[in-house]
Amino acid sequence: MCGIVGMVGKGVRIGNLVEGLEKLEYRGYDSAGIAFPDEQRVNVRKAVGKIGALKAQLKDIISVEITAGIAHTRWATHGAPSDANAHPHTDCTGKIAVVHNGIIENHLELREKLLRNGHEFHSETDTEVIAHLIEEHYEGDLPAAIRHTLIDLEGAYAIAVVHADNPDMIVAARKGSPLVVGVTETGGFLASDVTPLLKYLRDVYFIEDGDVVTLIPGNLEISRIDGSKASRPIIHIDWNEKAAEKGGFPHFMLKEIFEEPEVLRNALAGRIKNGRANLPEMENVVPAIKRARNVHIVACGTSFHAGLVLKRFLEDYAGLTVEIDVASEFRYRNIHIDENTIVIAVSQSGETADTLEGVRRVKVKGGTVIAVTNVVGSTLARESDVVVYLNAGPEIGVAATKTYVSQLAVLFIIGAYISHLRNEKDEIRQIINELEGMPTIFEGTLSTMNESILQLAKEYYQYRHFMYIGRGYGYPTALEGALKLKEISYIHASAYQAGELKHGPIALLDREFPVFAIVPDDALKAKVLSNIMETRARDAKVVAICTEGDQETGRIVNSRIEVPRVSDPLYPLVMSPYLQLFAYHIAVLRGNDPDKPRNLAKSVTVE
Ligand code: F6R
Repeated sequence: MCGIVGMVGKGVRIGNLVEGLEKLEYRGYDSAGIAFPDEQRVNVRKAVGKIGALKAQLKDIISVEITAGIAHTRWATHGAPSDANAHPHTDCTGKIAVVHNGIIENHLELREKLLRNGHEFHSETDTEVIAHLIEEHYEGDLPAAIRHTLIDLEGAYAIAVVHADNPDMIVAARKGSPLVVGVTETGGFLASDVTPLLKYLRDVYFIEDGDVVTLIPGNLEISRIDGSKASRPIIHIDWNEKAAEKGGFPHFMLKEIFEEPEVLRNALAGRIKNGRANLPEMENVVPAIKRARNVHIVACGTSFHAGLVLKRFLEDYAGLTVEIDVASEFRYRNIHIDENTIVIAVSQSGETADTLEGVRRVKVKGGTVIAVTNVVGSTLARESDVVVYLNAGPEIGVAATKTYVSQLAVLFIIGAYISHLRNEKDEIRQIINELEGMPTIFEGTLSTMNESILQLAKEYYQYRHFMYIGRGYGYPTALEGALKLKEISYIHASAYQAGELKHGPIALLDREFPVFAIVPDDALKAKVLSNIMETRARDAKVVAICTEGDQETGRIVNSRIEVPRVSDPLYPLVMSPYLQLFAYHIAVLRGNDPDKPRNLAKSVTVE
């Protein structure tokens, strides 16, 4: 996830672009840059670090007026944070500059083709190919060259382009990544979300996939990739600045839950090829995976819950027995680790002290570490043998939400990849196929479900306890649901394997102690239903999350949340936004700030 801004027209100053980027810093902050037509070339300025670093570099020209400019704040995906990898990227003539949010899946193929045609590259990014392709297709008509270029691109993008020969024009396009545009009488503006635009205008167009927008001062034209004209409705935005910072949502947590379709798309981009997991970043550890005798997963908190899902997946589909530990236990356990040991370390931040110490122990003993993290250049990324990134963009809410769903998606891909190498089962193709459709499923259900979950939360927010229960893949889901509820609502919530209830915890239940049952329609459903009956017999109220149209569950519970039918391992993924929303609404109804829960920090860098 990165942020892009573009401005064209009278009175646009370099400082305006920087100010726009500052509003998008939540989308990434490892480097930033701007480009603007300047005589016969584009002038490009970049800086590693937060936008403040770019601003400092630009201080002498900050109030210089430009005809058009594009700007970018980066969250690294392809290539570490560096000046060379920072956007904008340019072509060989130095006349074209591009900023890009998203992932170009076929960039390696395109790069090779372009190298053969004599193009020179200066970065490791996927984006640079776009500038060179535009150069190849440019014959004096920038929108046409961009339409041609888009035909070659596979993946997700929102791009904005300037060309020194067209100093009063920005051309932008989108597929899968957000883009908003608008015009005033003398200017034109675009950005990844509306916040940088609100200073200039309130009427905007949300650009759709396959749209190409040509912005000139006072006018914009939308066309499709085939050149046909398109029109989009004007949307009036009346948010104040505080609301705008959160994309109109009252809290970052809710905003981040609503980003999950985009985040899933980014997590999966380029990682499924011909129905199979495609992870070139794992190639170096293929021999280690093939010979592995011990597989361990190490993580903390929410990342540990994602790891539990992977453990089961590997056992079901790769024929491996997998051990999992929270990192604070793993680092002090006496486990046999040698060159036949693989450890999968999962950490959103890549800086969790216990996880890092666990990984260091594995490395000393000769094991192989596969890291799964969201932060390029984090300590975990640096110290592991290979890294698979989440590409989720920064998460501001302290409670993990969008990074949990991206962890699940990435871990499924890793699980499928390992299964291919070890013991492929046919069902994996079906699971991968469904996984590819997840962003669309999330998009289709989030808004409608949000309202009904708010109503449900109103029924339950005054209880002092909650017990989450589940079996199989439902158990990690119960743990994660309970963790979300307790950390932001401060309601006591425990999670048990449903079969464990009668070994003790059921003694707690009465009419004041409701149960949240995880009921996917899998082989264990009948067992969970019996456990629900046991809790009903103790007068506990029961909320269930179950499969669409599941009347059987509906008949025995007080309330239910329905999710689409998916293959068994994918239920934790499809259920997670609703558990997050339930916790979110309860926290807000109780008067808490869900973005900043008491006593918690986003990154736990001490033991
Ligand atoms: C809960 C949460 C924490 C983190 C845990 C590990 O919402 O965010 O439980 O999951 O502190 O953090 P990372 O994944 O950064 O290692």
